[in-house]
Amino acid sequence: MAIQRTFSIIKPDATKRNLTGKIVAKFEEAGLRVVASKRIQLTLAQAQAFYGVHKDRPFFGELCEYMISEPVVVQVLEGENAIAKNREVMGATNPADAAEGTIRKEFALSVGENSVHGSDAPETAAEEIAFFFSGIELVG
Ligand code: TYD
Repeated sequence: MAIQRTFSIIKPDATKRNLTGKIVAKFEEAGLRVVASKRIQLTLAQAQAFYGVHKDRPFFGELCEYMISEPVVVQVLEGENAIAKNREVMGATNPADAAEGTIRKEFALSVGENSVHGSDAPETAAEEIAFFFSGIELVG
């Protein structure tokens, strides 16, 4: 499997509880390298655009309000099979279903406040990276 890049967000519940370092350590232990990283405050319009695919879901409003409730850390992770590897390290969307040792099992508070986002496919990874980073910010 070739080297891939994926997009990650350390979400408000995690930045608020000072878990950024512990979460990055999980990525690094899994063989993922942080090739871009910044802490930002999302606007409501940015959160709505980023999660646009969910705009008709009942949780959309709450999700967007939550995503702007505290700063987030957006990152690009690189490694072999990075998209699937990151999803594995993150664990299931609902922490109640997440496997032992995963980020969501250890840190997530609920299905909404679930500590991390990770791209689910090569197309979304490319789109999400481009949404937050310009080429010169990616240092492999
Ligand atoms: P989704 O893309 O299904 O999950 P994942 O983050 O694992 O790729 O959903 C996006 C986010 O929407 C999810 O991380 C948290 C929120 N969400 C809810 O608040 N309630 C829900 O029932 C679902 C399915 C998601």
